[in-house]
Amino acid sequence: MLSLARSMDAKQTLRFGHSERLVAFSERLGESLGLEEEDLQELRIASWLHDVGKIAVPDNILLKPGALNVEETKIVREHPVIGEKMCAPLKALRRILPVIRHHHERVDGSGYPDGLCGEAIPLKARILQVADVYDALTTERPYRGALSSEEALRILFKEARNGWLDASLVCKFSELCQFVECYPVRSRSMLASYYT
Ligand SMILES: [Fe+2]
Ligand SMILES: [Fe+2]
Repeated sequence: MLSLARSMDAKQTLRFGHSERLVAFSERLGESLGLEEEDLQELRIASWLHDVGKIAVPDNILLKPGALNVEETKIVREHPVIGEKMCAPLKALRRILPVIRHHHERVDGSGYPDGLCGEAIPLKARILQVADVYDALTTERPYRGALSSEEALRILFKEARNGWLDASLVCKFSELCQFVECYPVRSRSMLASYYT
């Protein structure tokens, strides 16, 4: 499963190293919340595997540089449920299945696949979301360069105000970022390179 996840990252060259960075970001956020080692371990594994279901998304959609149409969006949005099904037969992964399934829910209920609200979304999935969005923003994309840590945090707060991300976790994450100087370095922020 980890090899599959790594190959997904490798396929999307601009996202290379995404899962590894995500593990580091979410682990740090989880630690700051006082999660026990067992929970941190689950968070690490879930961070690695969250997008493994994208293996079922055709490359012409996955690697499309422009905006997705309605049908393509529908296909991409199946990846949390496919990922859950892929991991379900493995007993060792049973406890992270809800994290994989719910990593695209939004606290206002507008996410997918189940439209869960607030704390009905597993805490580990909410932690992973903050780290996931931060890494997406601070990584170069075909249509824009990598944002600085400050710009990325500003967008995270905006998403929290919109009711998409857990505001208390965004606050916590931004506090953690204060401990590291955040100068953009060759299209990566210092914070991100610190963790890689
Ligand atoms: Fe995802
Ligand atoms: Fe991701």
